[in-house]
Amino acid sequence: MESKDKNFKRYLVTTALPYANGPVHIGHLAGVYIPADTYVRYLRMKGAEVLFVGGSDEHGVPITIKAEKEGCTPQDIVDHYHGLIKKSFEELGISYNIYSRTTSKMHAATASEFFQKLYDEGKFIEQESEQYFDPERQKFLSDRYIVGTCPKCGAEGAYGDQCEKCGSSLSPDELINPHSQLSGAALVKKMTKHWYLPLDQYEPWLHEWILEGHKEWKTNVYGQVKSWLAAGLQPRAVTRDLDWGVSVPIKGAEGKVLYVWFDAPIGYISNTKELCEKTGDDWERWWKDSDTKMVHFIGKDNIVFHCIIFPCMLKAYGDGYIVPENVPANEFLNLENDKISTSRNWAVWLHEYLEEFPGKQDVLRYVLTANAPETKDNNFTWKDYQDRNNNELLSIFGNFVNRTIVLTHKFYNGVVPALENLTEADQTVVNEMNAFHEQVGSSIETYRFREALSELMNLARLGNRYLTENEPWKVIKTDPERVKTVMALSLQIVAKLAILAEPFLPFSAKKLQAMIGMTENAWDTAKETVLLPAGHVVGQAELLFEKVEDSVVAAQLKKLDDTKKANELNAWTPSPIKEQVSFDDFQKVDIRVGTVLECTKVPKADKLLQFLIEDGMNRRTIVSGIAKYYPNPEELVGKQICFIANFEPRKLKGVVSEGMILSAEDKDGRLVLVTPSQLVAPGCGIG
Ligand code: MF3
Ligand code: ZN
Repeated sequence: MESKDKNFKRYLVTTALPYANGPVHIGHLAGVYIPADTYVRYLRMKGAEVLFVGGSDEHGVPITIKAEKEGCTPQDIVDHYHGLIKKSFEELGISYNIYSRTTSKMHAATASEFFQKLYDEGKFIEQESEQYFDPERQKFLSDRYIVGTCPKCGAEGAYGDQCEKCGSSLSPDELINPHSQLSGAALVKKMTKHWYLPLDQYEPWLHEWILEGHKEWKTNVYGQVKSWLAAGLQPRAVTRDLDWGVSVPIKGAEGKVLYVWFDAPIGYISNTKELCEKTGDDWERWWKDSDTKMVHFIGKDNIVFHCIIFPCMLKAYGDGYIVPENVPANEFLNLENDKISTSRNWAVWLHEYLEEFPGKQDVLRYVLTANAPETKDNNFTWKDYQDRNNNELLSIFGNFVNRTIVLTHKFYNGVVPALENLTEADQTVVNEMNAFHEQVGSSIETYRFREALSELMNLARLGNRYLTENEPWKVIKTDPERVKTVMALSLQIVAKLAILAEPFLPFSAKKLQAMIGMTENAWDTAKETVLLPAGHVVGQAELLFEKVEDSVVAAQLKKLDDTKKANELNAWTPSPIKEQVSFDDFQKVDIRVGTVLECTKVPKADKLLQFLIEDGMNRRTIVSGIAKYYPNPEELVGKQICFIANFEPRKLKGVVSEGMILSAEDKDGRLVLVTPSQLVAPGCGIG
C-alpha cells in the first residue's frame, strides 16, 4: 500500500461533514462522497477493517441566517436538511458505518471536553479584541451580519465578508456606514475575549510531518500546505460570540460558542464514539492507535482545516491521537460550464436526481467518477452524462455482459463450459485480463479513481474485442469445440468485471453477481483466471443499463435554463417606493379606459405612436413613446388601453397629445401597454 514502510491494521475513513443548510449536489459527490465510498468499498472487499464516518455539520453562521430568513429556528433548518442529506446518501449507496450530526449529545460532550482539556493545559492564548456590536440586539455580530456600502463598487448591502455585487472579499472595517442586518442599527465596537490556538507554534512539526514526511500527497494538497507554511501561520480564534453552537465550557464565557471549524472536525470523533457505544466497540483503537490509517476525503476549500488546523488540535490534545495518513482533496466541479452555486440554484441536487432517475444511481456514480475533478476543476454536462451512459456503460460494459450471457444460454442452456484448449491468442487475453485486478486496485489505493475506472472499462473493452474477433455466433456452425473455449473465457471476463466493478457501480455489480450466480465477491478472488467453474449455471441475461434518450437531456437542460431565467429576474430589484400620497391626492388623477380606433407612427419620430382613442364621450388623440415595442401599430386597433384623462395637453413633434397612455416598464426598460383584463365600456374610470 501507499506507505512503503508501514502496514496498517485498520482504516478510518472520513468525509467532510456537509453543512445542513442545503441539500447535497453533484459537486459534493464528485469531490468527496463518491471517491470516498469507492475507496471504502474496495477496502472492505480486500478484507480490511474499515470504519467509514460521516455526518452533518449543523453549526455556523449561515445556518442561523437561513433560519432568520425563513422565520424558523436553526434547529428546524438542520433537522430538515440532515434528514434529507442522510436519506439521499443512503439511496446513492454511500456506505457509511455511521452518519450522525453535530447537534448530537455525544458531540456536545466530546467537543466540550476537547476544548476543556486544551484550556486546562494552557494550550490556548487568551486575547481581547474589539468587535462590532449591535446595541439594539445586544449582541456581537459576525461578518455576515454586518452590511454597508461596498468601498470598491459603491453597492449598498455589501456584507462584512464579501460584496456580492462586485465579488470583492471585504472585512467589516472596510465597509462604509456599517450597520446591523438584524436591527438596522449603527454598530458600535466593544471589547470581547476569545481563545486562540497558536498555530505558529506547530510550524516545525507541520513542516516535518507533511512537507518532509508526506511528499506522496496530491500536488494540490501538498502545494497548498507548503504555501500556508511559507506565509507563516497565525494564532486562530477557536471561539465566537454567537448563540448557535457548542457552548464554551468555562466560566466567564457565557454567550460564547466554539467556532464551527473547531467543533465540526471533532464530529468525526463524536460520531465514531456514538457508533462504538452502540456496537460495543472500543472507539480509541480507531483514533489512538498508530496502526490505524486515517484518511480524510474533502474538497479543496477544506484543505487548511484538515491538513493544518485539525491536526494541530489533535497534536495539542496529545494522548495518542493519530493524524491523517492522507488527505486526498479534490478540486471543484462545474455544471454546464458555470460554477455550481447553492444560492443561484445552479446545481444538480442529489435528492432530485434520485427522484427523477430512479434506479440510475450507478450512472451518476460512473459519470462523476469519470469526470472527477482530481487534479483540476472539471465540468459536468448532461450531454456528457448521456454519452457516457450510452457509449460506455451501455455499449461497452452492458453489451459485452449481455452478449456473453445470452450466447451461453443459447449454446449451453446457461451451463459454463470448461476453460481448456487455449490458443496462444487466448493465453494472451488471459494474461491481459489477469493484470486488471492489480492495476485497478493500485489506482484506487493511490486515490486515482478516474484512472481506476477507465482501467475497469478497458477490461470490458477487452471482452468485447475478444467476442468480436472470435465471432462465436458464426463459428458455432463450423467449430463448436472452439466456441466452448471462447465462451468459457468470455464468461471469466464477465465474472471478473462483476467483482472489479463493485466499488464503482455497486448496484449493477451486485445485480450482475446475482445474475451469474456468484457468491464470492472478495477483491482478491479476481486474481484467479477461473471464477466460474465448468458446470456452473448462470442465470438469464437482464439489462444492466438502458439508453438515455435525447428528450431526457433536453428536459434537464430546460430545467437549468429556467433556473437561469429565474435568476435574472431575481437579480433585478424594482425602484424604491415613492413618497406616500393621500387618497385625495390619488383622486385627482383621472384614469380611464379607452378603445383604440387608430394607431400610426408619428412621421420623423421613431419613438412615438399616435393613437386615436374613443373615450366614451369624444375621440381624442394621444401620443405615446412606445413605438419601439409595437412595430405593427395597426394591430393595436380595437384594443383597450388605460390613460390619464386630465393630463395637461402637450405638443409632441407637432401633434397635440390629450392625455397619457399607461404602460408598464419592464426590468429591461421594455414598455408594455396596460389593458383591462376584460372588455369594459370606454370612458369608465379606474380607481
Ligand atoms: N461543513 C464544511 C463544508 O461544507 C466541512 C466541514 S468538514 C469537518 O465546507 F471536518 F469540519 F467536519
Ligand atoms: Zn462591491
